[in-house]
Amino acid sequence: MSVKSLEKQYIINTYNRQPESTLSLKRGEGVYVWDDGGNRYLDFVSGLAVNNLGHCHPKVVEAISSQAQKLMHTSNLYYTEPQARLAETLVNHTPADKVFFCNSGAEANEAAIKLARKFGKQNRGERAHEIITAERSFHGRTLAAVTATGQPKYHQGFEPMVSGFCYGKFNDLDSFAALVNENTCAILVEPVQGEGGVYPASHEFLAGLRKLCDEHKLLLVFDEVQCGIGRTGKLLAWEHYGVEPDVYTLAKGLGGGLPIGVMAARGAAADVLVPGDHASTFGGNPVVCAAANAVLQEILDNQFLAQVEQLGQYFKGKLKELDNPGVVDIRGLGLMIGMEINGDGAAVVKACQEKGLLINCIGGKTLRFLPPLVLDEEHIDIAVTVLQKALQECL
Ligand SMILES: Cc1ncc(COP(=O)(O)O)c(C=O)c1O
Repeated sequence: MSVKSLEKQYIINTYNRQPESTLSLKRGEGVYVWDDGGNRYLDFVSGLAVNNLGHCHPKVVEAISSQAQKLMHTSNLYYTEPQARLAETLVNHTPADKVFFCNSGAEANEAAIKLARKFGKQNRGERAHEIITAERSFHGRTLAAVTATGQPKYHQGFEPMVSGFCYGKFNDLDSFAALVNENTCAILVEPVQGEGGVYPASHEFLAGLRKLCDEHKLLLVFDEVQCGIGRTGKLLAWEHYGVEPDVYTLAKGLGGGLPIGVMAARGAAADVLVPGDHASTFGGNPVVCAAANAVLQEILDNQFLAQVEQLGQYFKGKLKELDNPGVVDIRGLGLMIGMEINGDGAAVVKACQEKGLLINCIGGKTLRFLPPLVLDEEHIDIAVTVLQKALQECL
């Protein structure tokens, strides 16, 4: 039986495989992946902002295999060195004082939501449990995280949603300010909205949210699950804005391809959760943490992030040169770029795939480019040439 037939028969049908379920991937190396027919593709999806160091980066592979030969798992009843070292690196390079490890972005946000509620009760009163998030946001698929997600299409069929969430307009400070009341405990936003269509926050918006949180003793929580870990040319996207959160969440790119989630907090927020409040069997697993330590070592190399920023500008410049009337907007930060088109995005994705380039489309109209951060200008040139042909064919 083919992989496709096995999947149809045995896997619950939750994913729209890309496009029309035609691709079964077998191998990856650097910026390329190969399908089971041996065809090579330039990967501008990167496992949706996961393979930031490309596929099977030798240092990540070495860290995983070396740790796997020593200790693959132990309970969080015991200490392990890779976990402690990863926490130390994260704290040393970000405003956080302490971190909690879990296994995915949704779980990291769940942890942040629990922390925010407890912080609210301790600091603003028993009623303070409500979290303001943004319309068009995405925070994951578990019940509280999907309720935090300000897109009704993700709620449909799963009501009643978790209580205690309300939604302001992204980049509209007044709409957030109007929602603050005695029930509020936190504000949660992505510095660059990903699944919502690749929309960077404005500086005034993030700075205004910081001020609003300070005035009302609210926690400011940044979801850096997609835009973090070097994706925008800084370790964390908020560094572009100079606005620091009280709590932030990470996942995706941190594990170099292995599942990880982090919820990090600073100041009083770092001491809100106490033994018994929260836990994860696999959180901080030594193999995953060894991989994450290798990822951070690469990304924190000074040259690395500067290069991402420069490549992002080069890529955006090339996209802007594309002379196609169907292109409505090009936006993003670093190597997290969206191109809004007036046409069928799925058709463009398919045409690119047929020409050896993997890209993604959100909401039917926004092409999303999330290439591995280790690519060269030459890869960008190839991708733009393919895209130009695909746009000519489809728009
Ligand atoms: C900003 C953001 N937060 C949270 C999530 C959920 O992460 P996960 O799929 O690892 O649960 C995603 C996934 O796309 C995301 O983009």
